[in-house]
Amino acid sequence: TTGTGQVTHQAEMVIVANRLPFDLEQQPDGTTRARQAPGGLVTALAPILSRRQGAWIGWPGTPDVDLDPTENDGISLFPVRLSQAEVDDYYEGFSNDTLWPLYHDAVNPSTFDRSWWESYQAVNQRFAERAAEVAAPGATVWVHDYQLQLVPQMLRRLRSDVRIGFFLHIPFPPVELFMRLPWRQQIITGLLGADLIGFHLPGGARNFVRLAKSLVGVSTTGTTTMQFDGRTIRAGAFPISIDSAGQASLAATPEVHETARQLRKDLGNPAKIILGIDRLDYTKGIDVRLQAFEELLLAGDPSVQDAVMIQVATPSRERIGSYIRMREDIERRVGAINGNHGRIGRPAVHYLHQSLPREELAAFYVAADVMTVTPLRDGMNLVAKEYVACRVDGGGVLLLSEFTGAARELRTALLVNPYDTDGVKEGLRTSLTMPTVDARRRMRAMRRQVLTHDVDRWAAAFLSELEGTRDVLAEAAGR
Ligand code: ADP
Ligand code: G6P
Repeated sequence: TTGTGQVTHQAEMVIVANRLPFDLEQQPDGTTRARQAPGGLVTALAPILSRRQGAWIGWPGTPDVDLDPTENDGISLFPVRLSQAEVDDYYEGFSNDTLWPLYHDAVNPSTFDRSWWESYQAVNQRFAERAAEVAAPGATVWVHDYQLQLVPQMLRRLRSDVRIGFFLHIPFPPVELFMRLPWRQQIITGLLGADLIGFHLPGGARNFVRLAKSLVGVSTTGTTTMQFDGRTIRAGAFPISIDSAGQASLAATPEVHETARQLRKDLGNPAKIILGIDRLDYTKGIDVRLQAFEELLLAGDPSVQDAVMIQVATPSRERIGSYIRMREDIERRVGAINGNHGRIGRPAVHYLHQSLPREELAAFYVAADVMTVTPLRDGMNLVAKEYVACRVDGGGVLLLSEFTGAARELRTALLVNPYDTDGVKEGLRTSLTMPTVDARRRMRAMRRQVLTHDVDRWAAAFLSELEGTRDVLAEAAGR
């Protein structure tokens, strides 16, 4: 149940994201129940905002409900209502069936539907208006992710006094893919309403600047500074992270240790535990790792003798066709592997289609000998960083797809190309048989990286650069 603390109505710092950090549900007795919302955006931002005074504008996760502003965990929450039709067209449609697949390398085909675009504009306008009401004079408004790319421009029209940052949590696609989008020019113009536009990787920022030049005619100084509409706009790379110290101290608690020990026992004390933890999304390459494991089992490979795999997959976007089909495929594969290779009381793959509490996930990370993170494309992938942060004991092996943002930072992970089935199979075999000294050396380097580059550092880097984007041109013009 949410708290009754003071809700800040004129906030100096406003986060605008499609989702609130908590899914809010109205209970029959009139109180509101809050549960952590799924996904990496919330994992990263929630700890930052609870440490700073600020407001968060977003959708509470259920269609057709009007909720009053409330406070939870030190964060002022401003719910935005979405109708069922908007959930269909703006959220499931344009955001997750047009933009999501296109921005993830078009691993699935995108649907381009003109009525979805109408809904996307209308909902972006609503978020912009809400932000304009909540932001104090001269406030910083930080807009997040692909669902809200028109908000920066819409908000600037309403409130020219606020500083606007935008961060994209997913990959920004190659120019050739972005050019497919029938509304490409409007999206670029929408983003150019911000003072600073952040991406995980320098390549994303470069793609954006190229598109802004060719589609909207911005002029540039250097590679990342643009002039448009009498304003200066910067684009840059800010690789996101996690609350590394918080995650590490959670993993170090006796309770988590005990749960990890019990988990291993419940599994029948296998020689090796292989783990996957993902939102159930077709970009995550869950099928890729199941395939590799199955082929090793089929070949009677000694590395998988007495190994078990655990796949925890949070339910996600369950009404979209591509997600329904992928879920059927994964569940069929799990069934087939267990049918062919399981024994009574000893399945080869343990599959949980559930969202688990943080403490339990930490115990899974602590117990896992091999962590498999094999997306076909992922902006960053925080699961990889959570695993590393949790290995306070210095053990464990991370098998990581080259096509994640995390692969740029965790250089000593065992990197694989998820499209290369033999390569993934070989990677899994190597992970299972890696000598302890080698594994510990790799983990040590990864821990150094994750513990020194946490989410606070990410936010500070973005916000201080945003602060530094004082608009010289506008000031010179006396605005
Ligand atoms: P994405 O944002 O695409 O979902 P990330 O790996 O960046 O991918 O972030 C996923 C976040 O969701 C992580 O913080 C992870 O701990 C959390 N998560 C993933 N699976 C589960 C689950 N089954 N239960 C609870 N949290 C989960
Ligand atoms: C990714 C996206 C987020 C999104 C999350 C969960 O992390 O970058 O914007 O919130 O997935 O997806 P959902 O559709 O449930 O909000």
